[in-house]
Amino acid sequence: MAPLTDEPLVLGIETSCDETGVGIVRGHTLLADAVASSVDEHARFGGVVPEVASRAHLEAMVPTIQRALKEAGVSAKDLDGIAVTAGPGLAGALLVGVSAAKAYAYALGKPLYGVNHLASHICVDQLEHGALPEPTMALLVSGGHSSLLLAPDITSDVRPLGSTIDDAAGEAFDKVARVLNLGFPGGPVIDRYAREGDPEAIRFPRGLTGPRDPIYDFSFSGLKTAVARWIEAKRAASETVPVADVAASFQEAVVDVLTRKAVRACKDHGVDHLMIGGGVAANTRLRAMAERRCEDAGITLRVPRPKLCTDNGAMVAALGAEMVARGRAASSWDLPADSSLPVTEPHVPGAQREPDAHDHSAAHDHSHGHGHSHDHVHELSKQNLYDA
Ligand code: KG4
Ligand code: ZN
Repeated sequence: MAPLTDEPLVLGIETSCDETGVGIVRGHTLLADAVASSVDEHARFGGVVPEVASRAHLEAMVPTIQRALKEAGVSAKDLDGIAVTAGPGLAGALLVGVSAAKAYAYALGKPLYGVNHLASHICVDQLEHGALPEPTMALLVSGGHSSLLLAPDITSDVRPLGSTIDDAAGEAFDKVARVLNLGFPGGPVIDRYAREGDPEAIRFPRGLTGPRDPIYDFSFSGLKTAVARWIEAKRAASETVPVADVAASFQEAVVDVLTRKAVRACKDHGVDHLMIGGGVAANTRLRAMAERRCEDAGITLRVPRPKLCTDNGAMVAALGAEMVARGRAASSWDLPADSSLPVTEPHVPGAQREPDAHDHSAAHDHSHGHGHSHDHVHELSKQNLYDA
């Protein structure tokens, strides 16, 4: 179906981690998805280095915006709004995106929408499978997060049912890959090795699946340790480590727990469909097992294509467009970059002031994150890779 021209045309900027993403959408239609990644610059450190990421965002920002506008074949003056990831993520990295979004929005006289990275990972599926059902059950699995979320309205009401109590799912992939000397990021390479391996070869532990454990929470730290010990024992005995079997068995343990708990959440809440988002949703075994278990349970599965699962600007634009479509308040010019923005805040509204010649407030950057009621330290970030 051709896009309706009265649907909101929104540009979205994503800089929460190592991808500088700029996407442009019209309603539910993807027009451009430009991504510049600094992942190669981090590979030798085995994890994302925040300062390196911030600098890379700064260098990539303007060219990536120009590339997206060209790809979409639209002019910046035709935009109905500019959306940006306000958090959660790396503080310095977020700040580059938020500052750029403010500058463009102010200069162009467009409303600014500071949105939540996690809600964006869910909303992106509208670009692939159309309007999200309400409520939506979402399993969000990335390098920084693993959560089960119930979203009656993705623009205003997102409820966490459970989350990881230690490592995120993607973080576990990255750490196990490091123990196996497979490089960074670990997810895609473990996914590839696992295809050649036997998922039943080694029975690794399934975290938090005992009868007294929290039903919707996850834990992957014990699994990571179990895999590392198993590998150490092999090496100590001078035996070769069967990399493909370890990869497949580890992946099976992660995917088994994720899908089991997600299906359980759908059943318990009477939701007949499941959305899976975030970088780990690109995993082929996760997609296959979720497909089978959802089918058995009569649940419709929605997973965006892999490129829309990993961080990108289109997901931010998708949520921004939904904000415009639903008449949500735009953000104020003092929108902060909030590294620990809670998932319960899909967007960061405020009274939008019209940019005018006498209003210089937009020139000031108030993005220092003070005065938040939720100004706590974010424990689950890719930064944790350093002290692993
Ligand atoms: O959503 P994302 O791009 O960035 C964050 O917000 O964290 O997710 C990145 C994470 C990394 O940990 C990466 O190893 C993992 O997603 N990942 C995968 C796969 N592709 C990316 N994990 C498992 N299998 C994959 N195919
Ligand atoms: Zn992400």
